[in-house]
Amino acid sequence: MHNDIDRILISHDRIAHRVRELATQITADHAAGEIVIIPVLTGAIIFCADLIRCLPMPMRIGMLAVSSYPGKTMQSGGANLTHWHIGDIRGKRVVLIDDILDSGSTLRLVRPQIQAMQPASLKTAVLLRKDRPAAREVQVDYVGFDIPGVFVVGYGLDYNDYYRNLPDIVTLKRAGETRT
Ligand code: IMP
Ligand code: MG
Repeated sequence: MHNDIDRILISHDRIAHRVRELATQITADHAAGEIVIIPVLTGAIIFCADLIRCLPMPMRIGMLAVSSYPGKTMQSGGANLTHWHIGDIRGKRVVLIDDILDSGSTLRLVRPQIQAMQPASLKTAVLLRKDRPAAREVQVDYVGFDIPGVFVVGYGLDYNDYYRNLPDIVTLKRAGETRT
């Protein structure tokens, strides 16, 4: 079916273990009271779904959608906010969730807009962070895995909207190095 998969970079077992560790950290940082979770669609949905089931505190879920890899490309084309579905977060503790930190343009676009809604706090969790200078310039609070600057799919991440349902994070045969 997916015979263009090159190799498994991070297995589902490793992801599941790390997601539980991140949830422990997030729980410790948000000890009392409720939080608002905001996944960036579509890539963060799988990570978010697994993460929130390890979080015990009361929560609401908002969401927003950003398109950053339009069409069949493996390079970020700059982020565009396409949907915004976030209730009143003024005075709330917000955790923004994205699948991967690559060029950083998604977080640079989205975070000031959330911050402008005056949450009590805003933390950011990414499952993956690519090894490239642009990614290291963006401060994030929770990182699942640091990975090389290669294009990956699976566990929510797509190529041309496919592969999101793969349980592992994998590289593709035709993918080269992303720009750094
Ligand atoms: P950034 O805005 O360049 O930091 O990239 C963030 C978004 O680009 C992510 O939410 C993904 O949707 C997409 N992206 C970046 N790197 C990859 C990758 O290796 N595979 C699939 N999608 C990626
Ligand atoms: Mg994507």
